Amino acid sequence: MSKQILILPGDGIGPEIMAEAVKVLELANDKYSLGFELSHDVIGGAAIDKHGVPLADETLDRARAADAVLLGAVGGPKWDTIERDIRPERGLLKIRAQLGLFGNLRPAILYPQLADASSLKPEIVAGLDILIVRELTGGIYFGAPRGTRTLENGERQSYDTLPYSESEIRRIARVGFDMARVRGKKLCSVDKANVLASSQLWREVVEQVAKDYPDVELSHMYVDNAAMQLVRAPKQFDVIVTDNMFGDILSDEASMLTGSIGMLPSASLDANNKGMYEPCHGSAPDIAGKGIANPLATILSVSMMLRYSFNLQDAADAIEKAVSVVLDQGLRTGDIYSAGCTKVGTQEMGDAVVAALRNL
Ligand code: IPM
Ligand code: MG
Repeated sequence: MSKQILILPGDGIGPEIMAEAVKVLELANDKYSLGFELSHDVIGGAAIDKHGVPLADETLDRARAADAVLLGAVGGPKWDTIERDIRPERGLLKIRAQLGLFGNLRPAILYPQLADASSLKPEIVAGLDILIVRELTGGIYFGAPRGTRTLENGERQSYDTLPYSESEIRRIARVGFDMARVRGKKLCSVDKANVLASSQLWREVVEQVAKDYPDVELSHMYVDNAAMQLVRAPKQFDVIVTDNMFGDILSDEASMLTGSIGMLPSASLDANNKGMYEPCHGSAPDIAGKGIANPLATILSVSMMLRYSFNLQDAADAIEKAVSVVLDQGLRTGDIYSAGCTKVGTQEMGDAVVAALRNL
């Protein structure tokens, strides 16, 4: 039976990087007879331009019906002044929430070829392989009430709410433990339990879940310390599990350890491993349309899709291998460039991965 994949390129560099990822996906589809059928739709600013909203109901229906979704990035200055409720980012948050994609996996792996591209000393990052498990459909991103009110003195005051229920914490903790179990068997739960009530419950529930995973070593860390430890000694981490906002921030930080956020893929999974796959980076409006964006994070997101949604380990390995071959060849987009390498654009990088995959 054919498997449906919905492609949502989004805005900014989204369409450029997606074009390259689709080339790679189509080749893998042919080469390994995967039986994928691809269809395209719009999200974010592109959807605002077309439908007046950042995620149209029919797009959401198609995403629900698809077996997996591949997404580029959303947002840009053109839509920055739109009211918050229909900004491009709301489309992304809505599709995450509506599809129940609570488990966000953000691996930060340093390709040995890119050790020079990291802002940290090579010995600090060599061999780095950490996984951030970010809760994606709860916490302060979605909490109510939120808004702006006028105080008695006439001053405006804005507020957000950071709620977490036991079941929300339990299910993301399980993802963290499950991942740690098949990796280095170490899980660090990151919170701010010295200040936040939601973090106190988080820690309590994670401790409860830990009883089912005696083979995994659990530690807890406050988020400010975690931010520091990530740049001081990142290799102490195996899997980090954390809430929505802390995960947003720490995953950007972790990405720089690997040389560039342009290298980081992600998977967002529901309870049945149905998933949406996207690069961790944003739509980079400053370089959009220039053909210089790094497509590798999106290409590696295709590999995660094959792995997590379809259990196609060999095809997923092949795509990762092809990326590694291209890096061995010394090809680099600007974000990962270092002296002695060959600087290439988005399309050349995509073509090189296609050629490498074809020759494997
Ligand atoms: C991410 C992004 C999004 C987020 C934005 C675009 C809403 O930063 O995927 O990390 O904050 O989740
Ligand atoms: Mg982010």
